[in-house]
Amino acid sequence: MADSQLSVLFVCLGNICRSPTAEAVFATKAQQRNILISADSAGTMGYHTGSPPDKRAQEVALKRGYQMKHLRCRRVQDDDFVQFDYIVAMDNANMSDLQARCPADLQHKLHLFLSFAQSDYDEVPDPYYGGRKGFELVLDLIEDASEGMLDHIVQRDKE
Ligand code: 4NP
Repeated sequence: MADSQLSVLFVCLGNICRSPTAEAVFATKAQQRNILISADSAGTMGYHTGSPPDKRAQEVALKRGYQMKHLRCRRVQDDDFVQFDYIVAMDNANMSDLQARCPADLQHKLHLFLSFAQSDYDEVPDPYYGGRKGFELVLDLIEDASEGMLDHIVQRDKE
């Protein structure tokens, strides 16, 4: 949860594929770089509340060293807009849903995750109804954006 240290909330639709992957990857990379920052994730819908991440997401992530089995799905709540410093959407639909709910004076906290990435993709595509390749692509994009976002935070702290 958010406290005095910088905090990031990753948001997708279901909170069982993309955003828990982003939480795990980002937290791991921050730790590896000795950057003190807390990560959490949530979904705009509550279909899978209380469930662990999708098995396919867990398997693909674990192969690259990211453990996700301790994570549990939850829905975005109004207090998240107050508590977190960065609220990061996986795709444009997630971003629109967040913009519709977020108070006007907190809209500056909302970001599209791939705005921090080198990739030509604008959004992290929803892998839920696709095959394993989709989960590999999601992980590639999330690794790229996590590095970029950590670079951005380090740079911000220097200014
Ligand atoms: P996520 O993927 O938004 O990356 O967690 C989805 C998970 C579940 C569903 C849709 C997308 N669903 O429709 O149940």
